[in-house]
Amino acid sequence: MKSSARILFLTMLGAGITVGGHSPDGSAQTPITPGSSAELKAAYATSQDIAEGKRVAAASCASCHGIDGIAKAKDTPHIAGQRPGYFYMELRVYQAGGRGNTPMNNSVKFLSDDALVKVSAYYASLDSAQPAPPSAKATAAKADPIAAGRAAAAGCGGCHGENGVSKVAGMPSLVGFDPKYFVAAVNAYKNGQRKHDMMKTLVSAISNTDLDHIALFYAMQKPAKAQTPSPGNQAAGKTAAGACAGCHGQGGVSTGTAPSLAGQDAQYFASAMKEYKNGSRADPAMKAPAASLDESTVKNMGAYYANQTPQPPKFRKPLTTAELAQRCDRCHGVDGNSTDPRSPALAAQRADYLEKVMRAYRKGERRSSAMTAMLDEVSDAQIDSLAAHYARQKARTVVYVPLPSK
Ligand code: HEC
Ligand code: HEC
Ligand code: HEC
Ligand code: HEC
Repeated sequence: MKSSARILFLTMLGAGITVGGHSPDGSAQTPITPGSSAELKAAYATSQDIAEGKRVAAASCASCHGIDGIAKAKDTPHIAGQRPGYFYMELRVYQAGGRGNTPMNNSVKFLSDDALVKVSAYYASLDSAQPAPPSAKATAAKADPIAAGRAAAAGCGGCHGENGVSKVAGMPSLVGFDPKYFVAAVNAYKNGQRKHDMMKTLVSAISNTDLDHIALFYAMQKPAKAQTPSPGNQAAGKTAAGACAGCHGQGGVSTGTAPSLAGQDAQYFASAMKEYKNGSRADPAMKAPAASLDESTVKNMGAYYANQTPQPPKFRKPLTTAELAQRCDRCHGVDGNSTDPRSPALAAQRADYLEKVMRAYRKGERRSSAMTAMLDEVSDAQIDSLAAHYARQKARTVVYVPLPSK
């Protein structure tokens, strides 16, 4: 078959992998049927195409990406050695405005399809960037997230108690919460949805990554009852609390999205109920339950809940970066060295760019069903450490064997 002579094998240096073959760890990537789609046009370039692509690059791309494809500016990706099928398809996505409003849109707007193919082939044929040296940020991202949470929560213990068990009436305990509730509560102070000037000031400077770590730290602490007074009739409180168990769980140990109430400080409980009742803390689920209760019932319920034994929240512990990266590598190749020309390589990419695009997928600004599903359960902290992980990987350059010019 004549056309088979045109099949281009991209051979991974050192590892001897061919497209459609197997990675060193034995995991298979999707085999490619060469020539089956337009995506692979740039993988069949001739040396003449590549030379012409270089001229396009010099005129239209080098100012931002460098003529060597190594970008110097923040949020601008290295494009040297990026896989040709993926590269070309992304240029078409930018042309169609599919990656939002970026500096790329104007750069490719007026280029012909032929120029896109050739410039893709040119950059894909270059050696990839060197891996980033381990930075302070990368080292921090590698650190144990619970230890990082403890450090970031250093200023919280004075009010909320060391390890989150309150010793001061009116201060909520922070143990026994699902990290999702915790993060949502802090964000509600930040964005003013929960009105509390002091808490707003205290948490305004906490980054999303630190907040993830703090929530995890408190969720991992052994829960104990708040060491604060809880006056009131517990038996009467227990009866009234029957109406709340559907959401807050038996004995106030929640198994759903509502926060646990077991062991909570009674005075904080009462003030929260008052706020739901008067509307200053607005929540659709709590509006009705709070509306009907008088002050003495609330006091009794507060006493009942304060004396229930809190339990550790049941939540899925976040995967480590290594565990996550294993999943990513199924599509992106070993250590982010894709062997499929249609799948982007991640190794040695700029960390700031990786962070930015992962957040764009998560928010749906950049569309890919595979990536949105993948990042659905991935936290901000994990995005940062994944970005740092891939930025540090050695890029294994694809040996791009151009077809001889016609
Ligand atoms: C004005 C600066 C600028 C110019 C000129 C420019 N780019 Fe870009 N390019 C960017 C930025 C910034 C991004 C990241 C945009 C985003 O987040 O989607 C990007 C993204 C890309 C990507 C996506 C990389 C990936 O891994 O998904 C490719 C491919 C690319 N550029 C190729 C080119 C080519 C080819 C040209 C010339 C035709 C070019 N760029 C011209 C700034 C530029
Ligand atoms: C000066 C005392 C003080 C400090 C320091 C403090 N908090 Fe608070 N925190 C409060 C008070 C008071 C409330 C109750 C506010 C309300 O009524 O909404 C609260 C409420 C909260 C809540 C909501 C609890 C719930 O059950 O919904 C969270 C979460 C929280 N704080 C986290 C933190 C974190 C994290 C820090 C450290 C960065 C911190 N707080 C530092 C006083 C403090
Ligand atoms: C339909 C489900 C539902 C029912 C029923 C319900 N709650 Fe809630 N409750 C929630 C949710 C959701 C939240 C979190 C709301 C927020 O973030 O402000 C909450 C929050 C609370 C809080 C604040 C906890 C904290 O740590 O800040 C208290 C106190 C509370 N509920 C008490 C009660 C009591 C008492 C009853 C019964 C009279 C009750 N709830 C019934 C869903 C429910
Ligand atoms: C099921 C296959 C699959 C898995 C698993 C997967 N990805 Fe992807 N990823 C893709 C595809 C396909 C694209 C290109 C999507 C597009 O066109 O925007 C992509 C794109 C990306 C990009 C953008 C690359 C660039 O240069 O702009 C990043 C970053 C990325 N993935 C990171 C990850 C990380 C981190 C994980 C693991 C948490 C992961 N991916 C898991 C298929 C996958």
